[in-house]
Amino acid sequence: MSLDQNLHKILIIDFGSQFTQLIARRVRELGVFSEIISHKKIKLKNINHSIKGIVLSGGPLNVYQINKYSFDKKILQLDLPILGICFGHQILSKLNGGKVKQSKHREFGLANVYKKNSSLLTTNFFGNKKSKQVWMSHADQVSKLPKNFKVVASSTNSKFAIVENKIKKYYGIQFHPEVTHTENGKKLISNFIFLICKIKKNWSSKDQKNQLIKDVRKQVGTNKVICALSGGVDSSVVAQLLNKAIGKKLYCIFVNTGLLRKNEEVQVVKTFKKRLKINLIYVNAEKEFLKKLKNVSDPEKKRKIIGNLFIKIFERYANKIKNVKFLAQGTLYPDLIESKSVTGSQTSKIKSHHNVGGLPKKMNLKLVEPLKFLFKDEVRKLGLELNLSREIISRHPFPGPGLAIRMPGIITNEKINILKEADYYFIQALKNHDLYNKIWQAYAALLPVKTVGVMGDNRTYEYLCLLRAITSEDGMTADYYEFKKSFMQSISNKIVNNIRGINRVVYDVTSKPPSTIELE
Ligand code: XMP
Repeated sequence: MSLDQNLHKILIIDFGSQFTQLIARRVRELGVFSEIISHKKIKLKNINHSIKGIVLSGGPLNVYQINKYSFDKKILQLDLPILGICFGHQILSKLNGGKVKQSKHREFGLANVYKKNSSLLTTNFFGNKKSKQVWMSHADQVSKLPKNFKVVASSTNSKFAIVENKIKKYYGIQFHPEVTHTENGKKLISNFIFLICKIKKNWSSKDQKNQLIKDVRKQVGTNKVICALSGGVDSSVVAQLLNKAIGKKLYCIFVNTGLLRKNEEVQVVKTFKKRLKINLIYVNAEKEFLKKLKNVSDPEKKRKIIGNLFIKIFERYANKIKNVKFLAQGTLYPDLIESKSVTGSQTSKIKSHHNVGGLPKKMNLKLVEPLKFLFKDEVRKLGLELNLSREIISRHPFPGPGLAIRMPGIITNEKINILKEADYYFIQALKNHDLYNKIWQAYAALLPVKTVGVMGDNRTYEYLCLLRAITSEDGMTADYYEFKKSFMQSISNKIVNNIRGINRVVYDVTSKPPSTIELE
């Protein structure tokens, strides 16, 4: 599935910078569609009339490693505006006849750039100041400008910090306008897309919604589609988008593994079946999961059992619906683009991830992945546009294997019930103290250790509850959230006083790495 081929866009050629995704997001935040393509994959034939400008990203290479990167020089004959950033700036200069060499002084971090000449690119960038603070990260630099290029701004160490060839509409920036450390950096990107490429805004949540609904209808026609609904943000948005696009041709299957957060199944049924009137098949498989997990304590075994059983149950119910041709999944853009592997996640190697997206291959269904061009923040905005509640949209991530991986050791009904309560108290407290949205993910876990306590005059011997709350950008790295002592005291009291089975609460202060976010 692809977006309308006529949607005007900025194409970002990725040379492996850790900031490439940020460039795409900045362009989209400004209201224009952008797409990333790896320098290894870009072919001249990919460049069609919908592309109104090209950005060359930064990257860890240098222009002398000519066989390590590819760039078809014919792209320079296309009469399209090009903005080169960092490494992109260096290749643009080199390909046009300039020179690049190792800098005497490598520049990493903040630097000042000074205005030398005016340019469309820097319109309202400097304001009434002569200089701006920018973020540099380079070891090489352009040492000689190509013919017909002029200097727009310089830093102490980079004479050619911003350059332009006005006739060809080529622009080069040595620093990173896409990172927030660069003061007013977004203005440079905005000037490139609106003043130089002359694109019109086409990328609001409303545009996306209408476009995606049209695309889904075109792709699936009058066929039936099934979707595994977990109640998380991505699958909820997919389900509601398809609901708007094809209504009763959509069948959502929600499997209650018994390992969900307290009342989650009730909320999912209430929202999707009752409020949004989606065809929802609710499967209560609590007993089946518990039986299969009996006496299993190895984390990887737990994950495999849950993943496989989930697929089996999903298939069992999906097979009851006749003539299904498509399976809808909540794949997001970062899952697809190659630049992810440059900075990439190791999580999949460390733990065998299961999510409701990884569904049956043997059912031979075609995939509908309407979110595959969107970043997570865009998915959230789209969800609001689709009338999903803020509660669903701003939910913390929840792993496919659920509470099973927040309960090291064997899984019992008793432990699940204790954990559900503890987690509920913790999350409610975060909401009541206006902390929930400041935290990327938070949960309670139940450790398989009993310790001694005293309540009233009686000795207790009960489980240890671990609380984890982290801040993160994307789950790849994380830091623990620093609560006030008063909050920690009150939540600890609340859990111990209200939940039989827990007499001690600890807070996890490890970051990721070296820990992971989940316990197993
Ligand atoms: P870790 O524990 O690997 O978690 O640091 C990173 C993020 O991924 C979530 N997670 C999962 N999500 N299926 C999922 O859909 C899984 O099997 C799974 N395991 C971990 C975790 O909650 C965190 O947000």
